[in-house]
Amino acid sequence: MRNVILDCDPGHDDAISIIIAASAASDLNILGITTVAGNVEVEKNTINTLKICELLELDVPVVQGARRPLVKASEIAPEIHGETGMDGPDLPDPQVEVTEGHAVDFIIEQVMNSSEQVTLVPTGPLTNIAMALIKEPRIIENIDEIVLMGGGTFGNWTPAAEFNIFVDAEAAKVVYDSSVPVTMFGLDVTHQVIATDDIIERVGKIDNKIAVFVKELLIFFGETYKNHFGFNGGPIHDACTTMYLLKPELFKTEYLNVTVETKGEYSYGMTVIDTLSVTGREPNTNVAFGVDTEAFWRLFEEILKLFDGGQPDE
Ligand code: RIB
Ligand code: CA
Repeated sequence: MRNVILDCDPGHDDAISIIIAASAASDLNILGITTVAGNVEVEKNTINTLKICELLELDVPVVQGARRPLVKASEIAPEIHGETGMDGPDLPDPQVEVTEGHAVDFIIEQVMNSSEQVTLVPTGPLTNIAMALIKEPRIIENIDEIVLMGGGTFGNWTPAAEFNIFVDAEAAKVVYDSSVPVTMFGLDVTHQVIATDDIIERVGKIDNKIAVFVKELLIFFGETYKNHFGFNGGPIHDACTTMYLLKPELFKTEYLNVTVETKGEYSYGMTVIDTLSVTGREPNTNVAFGVDTEAFWRLFEEILKLFDGGQPDE
């Protein structure tokens, strides 16, 4: 079992990442799920997380975190994820309650008290993670790895910056410069896992409530990506983190130096990836550039079939 804390801003693709982590195919021990302002306001991201946990019957602490980035004002993306942050599916208001306290203190307490190392899996802006590293630097010794969705060699919020990094570039710089090992799933790889109509049809054939929920997520997310970016479906960005934790061999990574631009007028939020090692800076990040897409989707289907007691195909 690998201890993980999922830090997220659900978010259609965050929801799918949580489902993968909570599935019968997963050997992840979810210590808790923390929420952060990102796709929409943190309160809405928290409600979405509670709804997802209730649907999954996943009994783990859900702890709300940062309402805004470290330095600049909040930036949200309702045009991608809808006003609720998870438009499309219609889940009931959650009966489960949020856990008292702040996500940053929860992360610190869990990492400091865990007998095994903890993997942090942020799939939203890195505000909570940075605040935890600043407030209690000793957590560095007990963090196995930070497996994050963010960045890339191009942007989707500006030409240079991907949304999660752009929302809080100062926090991202704290994380990448922290000496904690980072494995990064940026747009170079996440744009290779697009849930096309064919994938949605395959998911639609799986007869359980989780697969129905995922299909509804993919339909809405796909429509916004078709309308916004002219894609043929929605890339399930965040799912790459937990799919990597289940089956790392799906992905091809390169160990490179990455830092974050926090000053550029046109490049604020850019993950500066030293692909050719021209800076002489020590590598600090496993950057994912490739994925076996058919194997990815086959495993994805297997994972969904396992809900409601379904048996995996031979
Ligand atoms: O740029 C994609 C990222 O921004 C994903 O994590 C998505 O959920 C949004 O947070
Ligand atoms: Ca996200």
